Formats: sequence, C-alpha cells, structure tokens
Amino acid sequence: MVKIAVSGKGGVGKTTVTAMLSYLFAMDGYNVTAIDCDSSINLPAVLGVGEVTPMSELEHIIEERVKGPLGTFRYNPKVDDIFEKYSKKNKYGIRVLALGTIEKGGEGCFCPQNAFLRAILRHAIFRKKDVLFLDMEAGIEHLGRGTAKGVDMLIAVIEPGMRSFETLKRIEKLASDIGIKKIGVVMNKYIDSKSSRELMERINHEILGVVPYSQCFIEADLENIPPYEIECEVESFETIKKRVVEIIMSQ
Ligand SMILES: Nc1ncnc2c1ncn2[C@@H]1O[C@H](COP(=O)(O)OP(=O)(O)OP(=O)(O)O)[C@@H](O)[C@H]1O
Ligand SMILES: [Mg+2]
Repeated sequence: MVKIAVSGKGGVGKTTVTAMLSYLFAMDGYNVTAIDCDSSINLPAVLGVGEVTPMSELEHIIEERVKGPLGTFRYNPKVDDIFEKYSKKNKYGIRVLALGTIEKGGEGCFCPQNAFLRAILRHAIFRKKDVLFLDMEAGIEHLGRGTAKGVDMLIAVIEPGMRSFETLKRIEKLASDIGIKKIGVVMNKYIDSKSSRELMERINHEILGVVPYSQCFIEADLENIPPYEIECEVESFETIKKRVVEIIMSQ
C-alpha cells in the first residue's frame, strides 16, 4: 500500500490532481482509496459519488470506539466496518471518504478524531496493490505528525504565481520535518511565459509534470462531472502518474 498526500495552496488544483490520478491508477488496476482531508469537502463530487458522510460527523461512533475505560483512549479502535460503510465507490471502483473538520492539533493532540483517523489510515495499509490518496489542505499539520508520518510521497501542487511558490517552501519544510523523503511537484494551470519559466527553474524538487491551464476543467466543474469523463488533460496526468509509479517503486 502506498500513501500519497496531495498538498498546496488553496485553489491550485489539489482536488483535481487527486481525482485525475485516482482515476488513472484505477484504470491501471490499482485499488484506489481517496480521502478528502479538507474541511470543505469537494473530492466526492469531483470523483462523481455525490456526498459522503464525513468521519467527523460520526462522533457517537468515534467516541464509542475510541474511548476506553476511565477516560482513556484505545490506540487501536475498530474501524474496518466504518471504512466500508461510510465510503462510497464510484463507477471505477475508487473508494471515497471524507474526514470533515477534525480538531487541529500537532504532536500533542490525542483527540479521538485523530486516533480514529490514524486507525483508518493503518487499516488501509493492510491491502495489497492499493494506493491511498489524501487530498489535503495547504499543510499537513491538521492531521498531526503521527498520522502524516506514514505518507510515502508528497505531491505539492503549484500554479504559476509567487503565493503558491511560497506555500511550496512551507510544505517542503513540513515534509522534511516529518521525514517524508519523496516529494514531487505538479505545475498546474500552466501558462507559458518568461516569468513562469523562471519560477519553474527555482523549484528545487522534481517536477512530475506540467498541466496547462485548460477550460476543460471549468466545463467539467460547470457540468458537475469528473474532469476525466471529458478527458481533461489526460495525457499530462498520464505522464505524472508514470513518474509517480517510478518514484514509489524505487527505494
Ligand atoms: N489545469 C487547470 N486549468 C484550469 N482550471 C483548473 C485546472 N485545474 C483545476 N482547475 C480549476 O480550478 C479550480 C480549483 O481546483 P481544485 O478544486 O482542484 O483546487 P484545490 O486546490 O483542491 O482547491 P481548495 O483549496 O479549495 O480545496 C476548480 O474550479 C478547477 O476546475
Ligand atoms: Mg480541494
């Protein structure tokens, strides 16, 4: 099982990248799980499954499973059934879950939601030829370090622009603090110009691929259909997917 986190500044295309890669991995025969870790949930819609119940709304179940006697927490709550029950599969077999708003907390956070999430991520690890995508907010802080630690690769999505470049630096720092060694950059919404080429040259990490700015994604969004259904930039994403496979296969 490979865990891939997708991060980047707001609106750069994290959810789009997660959805396109999930689709291409599923087409290659992988069992794909995609978890929306953003508090404003939109990955399920982009993957064509409508709404899913966010984990954070299952408070009673979480409490029941996570709480041990006398206010203690169970480290290994049972989550398998929840994983099945509260996820939806799209027509390509991609399993989609949403976390909803979980308590923010770094290292010290031992809130039930985080224990629960960790258990879900652990559970997902046990399957073969699986790939798990985490569609994240700009940081991975809100998941807590313990949870983010198991991430094998971080895909940082950027767009041509200084603000997204600044966010990249923050993401890089965080990834190295946590010990994520494999980082790749996707340059999305690319418009060729002298300054965007200069910006590309300043990126210290491998660029997995470049996705041009394309109206296709806006059309897909307007029609409320997954962008792969109308073949938005599939070739660019195919290149990215191939590179991701090579990187995760290499030790
Ligand atoms: N290559 C592209 N060209 C044009 N538009 C794009 C491209 N990629 C994504 N978009 C559009 O940009 C908008 C934001 O994309 P998306 O929701 O994937 O970003 P995000 O990083 O997940 O945003 P958020 O931070 O809100 O979660 C969407 O309307 C999407 O259709
Ligand atoms: Mg998003």
